[in-house]
Amino acid sequence: MRGFLIEEYGAPTSHRIHDLPDLSPGVNEVLIENHAIGLNFPDALMVQGKYQKRPNPPFGPGRDCAGVVKAVGEGVTDFKPGDPVVAQVFTGAFSEQVIAPLSRVFHRPEAVSAIDAAGAITVFNTAYVAVSIRAGVKKGDRVVVTGAAGGVGLAAVQLAHALGAEVLGVVSSEEKAKLVREGGGDALIVTEREEEPLKQIFKDKVRTHWGDDTGADVVIDTVGGAMFIAGLRCLGFAGRLVVVGFASGSIESAKANYLLYNNLSVMGAPLDIHFDHALEEMRAGTEWWLGLLAEGKVKANVSEVLPFGQLMQGLQDILDRKVAGKLAVDVTTG
Ligand SMILES: NC(=O)c1ccc[n+]([C@@H]2O[C@H](COP(=O)([O-])OP(=O)(O)OC[C@H]3O[C@@H](n4cnc5c(N)ncnc54)[C@H](OP(=O)(O)O)[C@@H]3O)[C@@H](O)[C@H]2O)c1
Repeated sequence: MRGFLIEEYGAPTSHRIHDLPDLSPGVNEVLIENHAIGLNFPDALMVQGKYQKRPNPPFGPGRDCAGVVKAVGEGVTDFKPGDPVVAQVFTGAFSEQVIAPLSRVFHRPEAVSAIDAAGAITVFNTAYVAVSIRAGVKKGDRVVVTGAAGGVGLAAVQLAHALGAEVLGVVSSEEKAKLVREGGGDALIVTEREEEPLKQIFKDKVRTHWGDDTGADVVIDTVGGAMFIAGLRCLGFAGRLVVVGFASGSIESAKANYLLYNNLSVMGAPLDIHFDHALEEMRAGTEWWLGLLAEGKVKANVSEVLPFGQLMQGLQDILDRKVAGKLAVDVTTG
């Protein structure tokens, strides 16, 4: 079978496809015939050795894939060969065959294509952890999402909207604003990146977006840096800021006195360890949004499908901020 291998950490386009031995599943593992891959910002970090976890090379990178079950290992009773599935693994998804632990494989509804499922799984699961598990968003909540047309941002906009929240997505262009509106949110275009003006914009425009000065209940922050600091400025009483990521590359600190005086909470939303600590909740959440996808109530927003050979160029495009929506790869072509 063919698959990408990281022999040594480096720029995305320094990695290539190799001929690798066929795989067979172990106890509580599922072997997937991989049809589609979803590309994510963390994948682009991982292949360079810049992700928080650094497996020792050589290893197969990639986390999101979808296809059909090829074989199951001992102890697996919920899946059989031929079942359509989607999986989120830690490594090894950028290949024609993928081994997934049972806890990371999900039945894929017939109405959801492999491309959409693979394109959605990490971003929707991350958004689910942030919006539902951590922020506890409910009907009527006012929710601000930064980086709102990015992969996680757009999933967060759609899931918060599906829960009945009033959503405002912060984006940098009209093209991105359109995606947010299609996802059920209002959009605010902010091109400013400096901390002081950005703080003021959030205080003046984001905090008062709903026609009063009550502020937002929740900020889902995927950008970090000055956007995180500004996000704190638009929260109202008992507001919660959920840290999802640092697409800006900058990590800021929250002043404890600001949190105290304004009765605020700041919390993290790490996806992977939720599979270790809250597996049942993760399974329920994944089934929930896969159902919404099947019913057409949310969209995977895959904007481009690349042939297998172009996968690493796709990761470079993500790093270069050339992508709006999600990139997916058709493993059966090129
Ligand atoms: N918590 C978790 O477990 C988890 C899981 C997955 C991803 N993440 C992290 O979440 C973050 C977002 O991931 P993603 O897949 O949604 O990325 P993405 O698709 O690349 O989107 C990120 C968005 O952030 C904005 N952005 C990028 N660089 C910026 C900058 N320098 N200044 C301001 N805004 C910038 C861009 O929007 P504009 O151009 O409109 O500003 C972009 O649409 C990443 O840091 C990723 O590592 C965390």
